[in-house]
Amino acid sequence: MTLDTTPWPGSIAGIAYGGDYTPEQWPESVWVEDVRLMREAHVSLVTVGVFAWARSQPHPDTWDLGWLDRAMDLLADNGIAVDLATGTASPPPWFSRRHPDSLPVDARGTRLGIGSRQHICPSSPAFAEAATARVERLAAHVAGHPALVMWHIGNEYGDHVTACYCDVSAAHFRSWLRARYGTLDALNEAWCASVWSGLYGDWEELMPPRAAPGPILPALQLDYRRFSSDALLACFERERTILARITPDIPATTNFMRPNPGIDHWRWALREDIVSCDLYPDPLDPDAEVEMAFAHDLMRSLGRGRPWLVMEQAMAAVDWRPVNIPQEAAVVRRRNLAAVGRGADGLLFFQWRGSPGGPEMLHSAMLPPGGTTTRGWTSAVALGADLRRLAEVAGSRCPPAQVCLLVDWESWWALEQEGHPSDALRYRDLALRTYRPLRDRGFAVDMRHPEDDLSGYRLVVVPNLFLVSVRTAERLTAFARDGGIVVIGPFSGVVDAQLRLPGGHHPGQLRDLLGIAIEEWWPIPNGRVSIATSSGDAAQGAIWRDLIDLVSAEAVAWYTDGDLEGMPAITRARVGDGQAWYAGTLLDDAGMAWLIREATEAAGVAALVTVPPGVDVLVRQGPDARYVFLIERTGAETHVPLHDIRGTDLLTGVSVGGEVRLGPNGVMVIREVGRRGSAHP
Ligand code: GAL
Repeated sequence: MTLDTTPWPGSIAGIAYGGDYTPEQWPESVWVEDVRLMREAHVSLVTVGVFAWARSQPHPDTWDLGWLDRAMDLLADNGIAVDLATGTASPPPWFSRRHPDSLPVDARGTRLGIGSRQHICPSSPAFAEAATARVERLAAHVAGHPALVMWHIGNEYGDHVTACYCDVSAAHFRSWLRARYGTLDALNEAWCASVWSGLYGDWEELMPPRAAPGPILPALQLDYRRFSSDALLACFERERTILARITPDIPATTNFMRPNPGIDHWRWALREDIVSCDLYPDPLDPDAEVEMAFAHDLMRSLGRGRPWLVMEQAMAAVDWRPVNIPQEAAVVRRRNLAAVGRGADGLLFFQWRGSPGGPEMLHSAMLPPGGTTTRGWTSAVALGADLRRLAEVAGSRCPPAQVCLLVDWESWWALEQEGHPSDALRYRDLALRTYRPLRDRGFAVDMRHPEDDLSGYRLVVVPNLFLVSVRTAERLTAFARDGGIVVIGPFSGVVDAQLRLPGGHHPGQLRDLLGIAIEEWWPIPNGRVSIATSSGDAAQGAIWRDLIDLVSAEAVAWYTDGDLEGMPAITRARVGDGQAWYAGTLLDDAGMAWLIREATEAAGVAALVTVPPGVDVLVRQGPDARYVFLIERTGAETHVPLHDIRGTDLLTGVSVGGEVRLGPNGVMVIREVGRRGSAHP
């Protein structure tokens, strides 16, 4: 197997481990204890300076990078590498005072204040100038430092401020629109602006979608989301370009979130050397488990299979939800090992040492205020020891999957706009429901952008494509014609890339592929409707129903009650050598499981082993060995038949084969020497 080249820092041995480190918050005497304890916990990588702009430039003309030099020297002396933040996510108070126009404005016209973070208009020229000066100076200062292995640009772009609505942003939006449409006629046509007397006669009339008396042009809203993602990306790019010039050998990342609906990760990931993500599952959220696996597969896929990094997570509780329940240590451990199983080569936490005060003083940490007698610390040390045992896994790759899930931010944005038959159909819900049975049945899943090349996959699953470009429709059709199986979720194919109806019956560009015609939608205001499948299985649908007429497709599941009783709920069309399935409702778990079982069988894909319920089986392939991760995720003891898998559990050193017992939240990482090639369906 050929491993493509990776910018992963070669100086980090094994799986990187550590967290956000804030020497600027502590006297230097504490740093000495920090590095001693970091070594004890096997910390190898820390993120430094995410919010240290004010500390390193206390006044416009005063710089102090001496503390950073001393901290980085100390870390280097102790063999700990630094992911150095450019620190531009929170400009100091002097900057905001000098440049009040740099503060973001919300859709109601309120200019936001300081005292928090991300108080930046992405289009602010003053911010651009100050960030440029800062990054130039910082990069030149630390270039060549032995601790520096990675750049961390900004922080969680689009978190607190996803979009700014000020006049400067409005002007920037206009130039973005000019580049996109060229002429006002083209824009008016694309936006369908004649509706509600909205035709634009002068570029200066174009405004961000500020608070208005009623619904705002959908295409304007969608373009503002595209623009805002791009405006933030330009901030990232500005810094990235400087860093690439001054420190060309140091890879750069920025931390995605969860994923975050605010920024189009596909566009961003193209610009990153390393994809990284902050993962804060809510212990009270029943979907948290599946969301984590989804995020892991997405991050690996955004990096096109390259190693990725969990940049932040909590060792126990966060402090920013209405109720903050700590995560169990065993759950944190097995989720982290699952991240490695899904391709992560680094696990970092927020944060190394709990803050001495401030907004996050009650957030959990690797080293809580109680020090080394705390549960947090014990968990941190134990995880560090586990990762040392897995060192040889670093650099191996998850083999390409045969199943691919299409994830699309544009459809996410457009689907959740107002003016639809129901506002209860949410992209995240659709995506997680669709992904869950694939995860449950042990299929490896790659994620792709709708316009990506799909050859190489056997099954393409599409939770929703409200917005479909001509190119995407062509790709999906060609994929099916060549023998692939396509499964598409409800309310898809409604609009084109400009948010215009393609004409004729829905689902527009997907009509021929799916062999169905949809005239109306029939949402379910409350409760569920019953469904029977062609194989006699019972399922339920909720929230949504497409009113489907069969054209060339056949029905494979029907509603058995409600006002659409007898109408198709799921259809299947034969397309060339392949098939295209459509689910016209939000299927419950039983329905999704049935659909995925049928589709995977039709596609001829099978899991590596028959996975007992509640177990993840994940594979990484190295040049000389295959690593099979077995992870129990329900908190119950289970037994896993290994079939022909045998080798050594790296976490215990014990030889395993036949059938293994996994305790609650138990993990094994089996090294099979000599196993090569395509390892996992
Ligand atoms: C993240 C952020 C960190 C820290 C963390 C707390 O969103 O990047 O700086 O605030 O949340 O959970």
